[in-house]
Amino acid sequence: MDRCRNSIKRIIHGLSVLTPVLLSGHAAAALPQSTLAPAGPVARMQLDLFNITLYIALFIFVIVGSALAYAVIRFRGKPGDAIPPQTHGNARLEILWTAVPVILLLFMAVPTVRMTFELAAAPAGDNVKVRVVGYQWWWAVEYPEHGFATANEMRIPVGVPVEITLESADVIHSFWVPRLAGKVDVIPNRANTMWFQADEPGVYYGQCAEYCGTSHANMRFRVIALEPEEYDAWIASRESEQIAVQAVASSDLAARGHELFMNGACAACHTIDGTTATGTVGPDLTDFGSRISLAAGMFDNTPENLAAWIKDPRAVKPGALMPSIPMSDADVDALVAFLQALK
Ligand code: CUA
Repeated sequence: MDRCRNSIKRIIHGLSVLTPVLLSGHAAAALPQSTLAPAGPVARMQLDLFNITLYIALFIFVIVGSALAYAVIRFRGKPGDAIPPQTHGNARLEILWTAVPVILLLFMAVPTVRMTFELAAAPAGDNVKVRVVGYQWWWAVEYPEHGFATANEMRIPVGVPVEITLESADVIHSFWVPRLAGKVDVIPNRANTMWFQADEPGVYYGQCAEYCGTSHANMRFRVIALEPEEYDAWIASRESEQIAVQAVASSDLAARGHELFMNGACAACHTIDGTTATGTVGPDLTDFGSRISLAAGMFDNTPENLAAWIKDPRAVKPGALMPSIPMSDADVDALVAFLQALK
């Protein structure tokens, strides 16, 4: 009995701590992957719909729960009670408890159906178009209007709808940026579409949301929303194809790294625009130095983390398909210098 009472106390304490956290938008904003802190119109509409259902469910819970508690206490049996009057059926009650749920379901169904149609296509206009391809365990991010690709970090301008086509190179993944939009499955041999828009500049965290193998939990990504001028400057720098040329010119070590990259195994799997590296097995690395993370969002993009990754990818990311290629520490340092200069 004491144990039961303690458990109930613990549950009530847990709820009293959790509820204010869940209900306060401010606390939710501190959580980078919270659907309760929407940062764009799509996520906001989805949260509004969630709230309609939540409040209706809470209302039912309070009414039914109170009636139940009242009946249990008020009409509880005492020793020696006679058998209460037995009844069968009550047409008025039957009609009532059929009609009320129908009305409540309509309250949920009408906005759900309306929103499903509203969100099916982005508002017409000068939208940004991006093609995302899921791989075990990273994301290719292509800009078909500009003819280039990047990986694991999607740069977008603020205040502009982004139309996304989702495809898979292998198994089923799911593309999810909780603060911008709900998840959409990424399915082989099929192109799914979605759109979102970011209101404010910033970094929005994403995550594969469908179990896809060993490093499913490490299949992360970032959406980086930029002011329109910054976005245009990024597009222009990518279109110029001068990033690699500038990287080679930046230092002797980077130039040596470039040589190793082009003549070694790296170029067989990776593309760097403006060079002879045109592999398509692994992520495009053209603007690698400007990325804030590496290994699909697992680590900060620092020289130390990059060196550890190049030396033994599988040691830092279980199941990673990139092989470990034996090379000297000096060669690793040169590759790191070249890759970090790609910005
Ligand atoms: Cu891709 Cu889970």
